[in-house]
Parts: sequence; C-alpha cells; structure tokens
Amino acid sequence: MNIDGIPTRTLRAHPEQRLIDIIDQTRLPHALHWVRVVTLEQAAHAIRAMQVRGAPLIGATAAYGLAIGLNDEASDTQLAHAVALLGTTRPTAVNLHWALARMQAVLAPLPAGERCAAAWAEAAAIAEEDVAQNAAIGQHGLGLFRQLPRQHGTRLNIMTHCNAGWLATVDWGTALSPVYAAYDAGLPVHVWVSETRPRNQGLLTAWELAQHGVPHTVISDNAAGILMRTGQVDAVIVGADRIASNGDVANKVGTYLKGLACADNAIPFYVAAPRSTLDFACPDGAAIPIEERDGDEFRLVHGLDSRGVPSALHQLPAHEAVANPAFDVTPARLVTALITERGVCPASTAGLLGLYPEEARA
Ligand code: MRU
Repeated sequence: MNIDGIPTRTLRAHPEQRLIDIIDQTRLPHALHWVRVVTLEQAAHAIRAMQVRGAPLIGATAAYGLAIGLNDEASDTQLAHAVALLGTTRPTAVNLHWALARMQAVLAPLPAGERCAAAWAEAAAIAEEDVAQNAAIGQHGLGLFRQLPRQHGTRLNIMTHCNAGWLATVDWGTALSPVYAAYDAGLPVHVWVSETRPRNQGLLTAWELAQHGVPHTVISDNAAGILMRTGQVDAVIVGADRIASNGDVANKVGTYLKGLACADNAIPFYVAAPRSTLDFACPDGAAIPIEERDGDEFRLVHGLDSRGVPSALHQLPAHEAVANPAFDVTPARLVTALITERGVCPASTAGLLGLYPEEARA
C-alpha cells in the first residue's frame, strides 16, 4: 500500500546484508520510524513489544527472525534455540507457530551449512505468499461488498475493529483488503474505525486508510452499538489471530461484542484471514490461548502532549488492579462468513473443509 503515494511494504528484507527493516508501529500514528533488525533477540523483542503486530506480520517477522538467528551459526542447537525464543513471544496468533513450523520443516533436514540461505529463501516465500493471499482475500471480499444492501443512502458503511490492514500484514491487509479493493473499484466506501482500547490499533487503521485516501471516521469502541442500531453500518469485517477448526474466531478483544451487536441488528459479520491463521488442529475457541498483557497498557494513555512531544499519562494509579486480556473468541454462530484466499465459506468445520479438503483427517 501507499505511504505518501509511494508503494511500500511493512517489512523490507535485505538478504544480502542478512537483516530486515520494520516499521516501529508503537510510534504510529504520530511518527513513521523504521527500525533495523540484525539479531534474533531484536526480532523477538520487535514481536513481543508489538513494534510489529497483526497475525500475518508476526508470522513473516518470525520467519525472518529465524533466518537472522541462523546468520552466524545454524547448528541443530541454534535452530531449536531460535524457534523456542521466537515461539514464546506472543501466544494467540497462530501464524507465529505456523511460520516457525514451516521454517523448521524446511531447515531441519538440511546440513547446517545450507540452512542460512534456505532460511532467507523460505522467509521470502512466506512474505510473498502473504501478499498474494491477502490480495485474493480482497477480491473475494469485494464480491460480497458489491452485493450488500446499503441502509443509509448510497454510501457503503463498513465497520472494522483493531487493525487488520496493511500494517498487520506484509501488504494489503486481511479485513481491510476488501475495503481497499472496493475503494479502488470505485465503490463509495466509508469505514467506521473502532478505536480498540487499550492499545488503540484503530488509530493505525485510520492512519493507513488516510494514506490510501479511503474515507473513514474513528469512533470509540462503545459507539458501535448505536451506529448499528440506527442503520449506519452495512457490514462489519474483522481479521483473526486464530480460527479453530469449527469456525470459532479469536481476534482482538472487543470483537465478540461487535459480533453480538451484529446478530441483534441483522448486520453481516465477516472475518477475513489467510490459510496461515487457520488452526485445523484446534477443535474450538475454548482451546485457543488468550494473551494477557501487562496492566500498564491499560493504566497509561499514550499520545502527544501540547508541545507535540510523545508522552504517557497515568489514567490509573499503579496499584490499581486491572485485567488486560488482549483477545476474545467470537463463536462461529455469530460469524456470517469467513473470507480466505480460496474464497468465502460458512464458519464451520464443513465450510472450512470445503475450501481446504486436504486438511480433512482420516
Ligand atoms: O495485538 P495485535 O495488534 O497483534 O492484534 C491484532 C489483531 O487482533 C488483528 O485483528 C489480527 O491479528 C488480524 S491482522 C490481519
């Protein structure tokens, strides 16, 4: 997608120098700052501290992080160490484990001397596939958007939660890919951007929609219900961090409430995700690990002060107990349809196996 009109990906790999550059998303939307990642530990930190975030980008960064981790030594011990370190950075997004398992399957059988070059090549393949799959999601979602009845005039009002856009992937995004496809196709699309407390990923969504020129309005998370109730939302589309084999969806905390409100208002609730987010080994949402993050993410509010300097304000005293689950599970029954790179399907075992018959177990 574009930054200041220039096509840009969220991750720049430099295989000849054996390093990558990432956007430090903790500094957006106030500053666009690229960070150079040259060690395994820096890659793990970037994922854990959410300099990179969003399930597909976490997976791609982990793949490159593993390649970086093999730059100097590619023994069995080092391979296992790198996989273990990266694998504990974030628990919910299955793309992380999917990418590491794929890398390990390619690298483990090779002699140590061949592993580093193979790791850089496989990480590049993962990144390229992410771009292609997200582009395909965009076209499938566009087909759905074209059929949506518009409740409020000619404008097509789409609501989203968190950031499942370009910034959360290598390119295009998942939930926002159909939005970009719709905008580029000339549909009069407008996006309600849910702020997404406490990390405010909605501000990332607003930033990247603005970069592409897509009309949008930021709302507090609590405003979603009244907008749905008053006919101002034609569909909700979100991404996912893990989709269980029965179609239950783990995504950013607050997604479940939007699913409930959609059901009460007969509004389509779509979930867009690539193959790397589908966990066929996971029976249902109850088996998905939910990340509990540091309470200071909730106690502190980040922004610019009156002089434009990045600042953090305490909205709660440090001793105040807070709970900070980072994700929730939306049951499959609340999901109108899943959108993957292979097409659109019901959120169910049968629906998923219809698109991925090779995953059927004997
Ligand atoms: O904690 P985050 O910001 O990594 O969570 C991101 C989300 O929940 C996204 O909706 C999800 O990863 C899909 S990204 C295409």
